[in-house]
Amino acid sequence: MIPYEQYEQSADFLKNRLGEIPPTAVVLGSGLGSLTDELEAAVKIPYADIPGFPRSTVESHAGLLFCGRLDGQPVIMLSGRFHYYEGYSPQTVSFYVRVLHLLGVKKIILTNAAGGVNFSYEVGDFMLIADHIKFFSESPVRGQNINRFGERFFDLTRLYSPNMREAAKKCAKNLGIPLHEGVYFYMPGPEFETPAEIRAIRALGGDAVGMSTVFEAVTAAQCGMEVLGISCITNMAAGIIQDSTVSDTEVTAVALKASRSFGALMKAVIAAV
Ligand code: HPA
Repeated sequence: MIPYEQYEQSADFLKNRLGEIPPTAVVLGSGLGSLTDELEAAVKIPYADIPGFPRSTVESHAGLLFCGRLDGQPVIMLSGRFHYYEGYSPQTVSFYVRVLHLLGVKKIILTNAAGGVNFSYEVGDFMLIADHIKFFSESPVRGQNINRFGERFFDLTRLYSPNMREAAKKCAKNLGIPLHEGVYFYMPGPEFETPAEIRAIRALGGDAVGMSTVFEAVTAAQCGMEVLGISCITNMAAGIIQDSTVSDTEVTAVALKASRSFGALMKAVIAAV
């Protein structure tokens, strides 16, 4: 169990460093980190400098918290997150969400790279997360409940904010960026799925599959934050394209290629929500 004081310790440190706290935070998924280049007047803090913050076990996932303005809009950006497949508990994966809540952040935009499960999706497309399925992991808020972060039993009927989704759809339409809306199916990884698993995921209602986001979304919902989720479809999931395989190289390359339109969409969405 991570004690309340540990979240508070991180939040107190950041309050002193960040000054006025923006209402919105964006978490950048694999390959989508370049958006931080466009931040103006940014404060940049390595996770390792934040007291209480989880320590990264992976060199390449060092992790940086930025606070600045994107197209004039104040925003916190997190580049690099913690994943369950790295060995962290669901509670540690979503640690930063509770810290953002203690800072006073009201809205969180979670982005990720995901595999396309829906046959109508194409590589490079974006998908607004309408809902998610998480069958294979415990809850990030399992255990003794910390009442200051919300009630033990809480509703997920509108986990992915209908208002923020509507705003995102309008932005995408104005920019001419195609945006699907579908169900994100969480898989723990780190191996990609088998073709049989992908068929099962489709039968169960998944449109895209990925290894992040859901713990953070659930944690944010408990403490009353509004959540928006956007996936970049970096590959078609296993077994969909004959004679093809899934690779991390492809995932990262496609996300990098998509990052220009992703950036345009993010700027518009942050201004609209
Ligand atoms: N499966 C799981 N996670 C992913 C995938 C995938 O095909 N692509 C990007 N993240």
